[in-house]
Amino acid sequence: MKAETAISCLVLLLGLAGLACSPAAEPPAQESEIVHQGRQIFQSDACPTCHGRDRTGTNNGPSLQGLRSRWNEEDLIRFLRDPSVFKHADPRLKQLAERFKTTMPSPARTDEARLRTLANYLLQD
Ligand code: HEC
Repeated sequence: MKAETAISCLVLLLGLAGLACSPAAEPPAQESEIVHQGRQIFQSDACPTCHGRDRTGTNNGPSLQGLRSRWNEEDLIRFLRDPSVFKHADPRLKQLAERFKTTMPSPARTDEARLRTLANYLLQD
């Protein structure tokens, strides 16, 4: 093997090793405090069971990415407090609900501050 080829192989291997070792799904370092807390609520309230740890969705629930284009903070808080009301009022949500056998439950606690923190996490991107 030529020296050049050997070196490119080594570089490639080191690159792959680097990829394998980089932490997956670590929260970004610049995440704000409220988004960080919202992420913890999201995980502790079993939202990932249906929406996935990274919010890309599962067979039990839709992806929650890009919510900012569909929700403002106040509406999202109202939805989280009582998802069933919205499902009846909003045709898009009704259609979405029909795609899944599961039903979106209310979070474990529905006090304003907690829902706002959760909404901030959901609306981060
Ligand atoms: C049992 C499964 C399940 C769990 C647990 C669950 N969801 Fe859902 N979620 C759904 C389904 C199904 C929908 C589709 C609409 C509906 O059924 O009301 C949905 C819809 C949503 C939507 C609206 C999506 C859109 O496109 O506008 C948001 C936001 C949401 N869920 C957030 C959450 C959060 C936050 C939690 C945790 C507190 C959670 N969900 C827990 C099943 C679930």
